[in-house]
Amino acid sequence: MGDRLLEGRHILLGVTGGVAAYKAVALASRLTQAGAVVDVVLSAAAMRFVTPLSFESVTRRRAHYDMFALPADTSPQVCPGDLLIAHIALARSADLMIIAPATANTLAKLAHGIADNLLTAVALAVTVPLVIAPAMESHMWEHPATQSNLAALRARGVVQVGPATGHLASGASGVGRMSEPEEIIAAARMVLACNGDLAGRRVVVSAGGTREAIDPVRFIGNRSSGKMGYALANAARDRGAQVVLVTAPTALPDPYGVQLVRAESASEMRDAVLAALEGADALVMAAAVADYRPVQVSAQKIKKTEENLMLELTRTPDILGEVAGLRAAGRGPRVVVGFAAETADLLANAQAKLRQKRLDLIVANDVSAPDAGFGVDTNRVTLLWADGSVEPLPLMTKEELAHVIWDRVQCLWA
Ligand code: CTP
Repeated sequence: MGDRLLEGRHILLGVTGGVAAYKAVALASRLTQAGAVVDVVLSAAAMRFVTPLSFESVTRRRAHYDMFALPADTSPQVCPGDLLIAHIALARSADLMIIAPATANTLAKLAHGIADNLLTAVALAVTVPLVIAPAMESHMWEHPATQSNLAALRARGVVQVGPATGHLASGASGVGRMSEPEEIIAAARMVLACNGDLAGRRVVVSAGGTREAIDPVRFIGNRSSGKMGYALANAARDRGAQVVLVTAPTALPDPYGVQLVRAESASEMRDAVLAALEGADALVMAAAVADYRPVQVSAQKIKKTEENLMLELTRTPDILGEVAGLRAAGRGPRVVVGFAAETADLLANAQAKLRQKRLDLIVANDVSAPDAGFGVDTNRVTLLWADGSVEPLPLMTKEELAHVIWDRVQCLWA
């Protein structure tokens, strides 16, 4: 499946002459696999390290390096009859430009508006955002000339990724390694997301299953993987929202571009969610929050005996219940969405929760189905609205469902 943010986007990838140019091939490949249309522009020095053919093989498009090529040699669409020189044709069609690796020499040219090759001419001609991933030997990196060139570029809105610290081509170890393709793509995605339909919105999402301690090594938990909540946070970020993700422990990688707040127990999650709600436009509670916790948490590990062990449990705070109280007092977010994880009487139970917790929308989820609910990548849910509407949705991935939920939140804001 393509990537909703990168699908069909036209990305210019400038590659300059450093040993990290080989990593730019992987970058071009990943962007293409995600559905982006990638046009690569190489400097003469870059072609000493990698060939245009390397990029053409992964992007399935002509790579560019000749400043004076005529439109027949340029792959982007040019208006019929336009005799555009390569750099103008390339610059016109782009959504974003990335330069990776960006050498000290190219950074200096960019800072001063020098356009003495196709790559720097394109960089001067584009009006879209520019992401740069510098790569050079650490003394070149630390040189005041390089630092002041970078400061000038940043002041103009250029997004800088890295460099990282590590093994350098000189054999030394230090600052100057080009960031990995994943990190560069993450930065590119953040830039593209800025114009999304959730731009300017602040949203809070909860995820994962809380843990209630029994003793220092044991807890009461549940089977929530956190996938649905993380998908919601990622989707909102990709659409330009400022996202706070309050997460119980999960095995999922930390999402980039999202403010992550860790909470272990229901009570920690309550505190974190209420603190994050300040100024929020929406709360989506996808976390499976424990309803009970042990009354006593043993300070030492409980040792086994021949007797049965009785654990007395007491109620945890109902987070959505408290948010309903806030909203009744005229505070709290405009839109609140809950999840109902049920194994029986799905719709009746979900309706009751929608009313009790005064939600705008509840996502009713039959967690006993093998292709929906805890741990799996797909979900089949029914959306229940406060006005009584019932919207059954087909089986879809959690990523797709996340986007549908944000579409519905948009309707509720309107
Ligand atoms: N929830 C909450 N605080 C709790 C328990 C749940 O905010 N202490 C939220 C969940 O994040 C979810 C919704 O309430 O969005 C419904 O959770 P669920 O566990 O299905 O419902 P409960 O209200 O706990 O009811 P029951 O366990 O009886 O089904």
